[in-house]
Amino acid sequence: MPRTPVLAGNWKMHCTIAEATALADGLASKVGRVEGRRVILAPPFTALGAVRKAIEGTRIELAAQNVHDQAKGAFTGEISPAMLVDAGATSVILGHSERRALFDEGDDFIRRKLESALAIGLGPIVCVGETLAQRDDGRTLAVVSSQVDAAMRGLDATAARRVIIAYEPVWAIGTGRVATREQAQEVHGQIRALLQEIGLPAADVPILYGGSVKPDNVDGLMAEPDIDGALVGGASLEVEGFARIVEYRA
Ligand code: 13P
Repeated sequence: MPRTPVLAGNWKMHCTIAEATALADGLASKVGRVEGRRVILAPPFTALGAVRKAIEGTRIELAAQNVHDQAKGAFTGEISPAMLVDAGATSVILGHSERRALFDEGDDFIRRKLESALAIGLGPIVCVGETLAQRDDGRTLAVVSSQVDAAMRGLDATAARRVIIAYEPVWAIGTGRVATREQAQEVHGQIRALLQEIGLPAADVPILYGGSVKPDNVDGLMAEPDIDGALVGGASLEVEGFARIVEYRA
């Protein structure tokens, strides 16, 4: 079975409920029936309900941008996995570089979130990626491998098949400086080799690229054999642009 391509929009801390509704309505009518690829929208928590309604009856899926690992308790400001399911999310982004860098999330916490998400039936989208300094030091493979290893090692095959990995080089996020398709493919190939090495069904795990994906570079990226989709920030906030990304031609 070939891997189904995944085009996911991470709206980050953007969109009021009204703005999110308009964006989701626009996408629902433009790409709500698209076949052969998965389309996932990740609005902020406050807009999950509105986006759920806007995409009802379409093939578009709903994701959250973060989750806590615990089921309930005194964790002011946090959201539990069950709350996300209740809000209609079917996936959740974990370990985004902004959460790692700005909110000190580490590999162990991200692994616990991943296990809690899987346990309740949410599909984790786990982000990994190196900083520019790490790349310049020749440490890209080491950094990305240890993040992937921490998230994935020891999962059973069924669980691993429900995970999506997103390779997002930090230097390419929000900078307009996209990784070349060769740079991205190189790391994607290494991630897949690592999954194989640790005994997971590597051929079945989608690996997305993220970092300045735009309508004018998506086709080239998607033509690479190990790039199975895109996790899109800025360009997912606009209907025409994200629709074009969903309708990439490889
Ligand atoms: P940009 O597409 O804005 O570079 O953001 C990428 C990203 O961080 C998606 O999670």
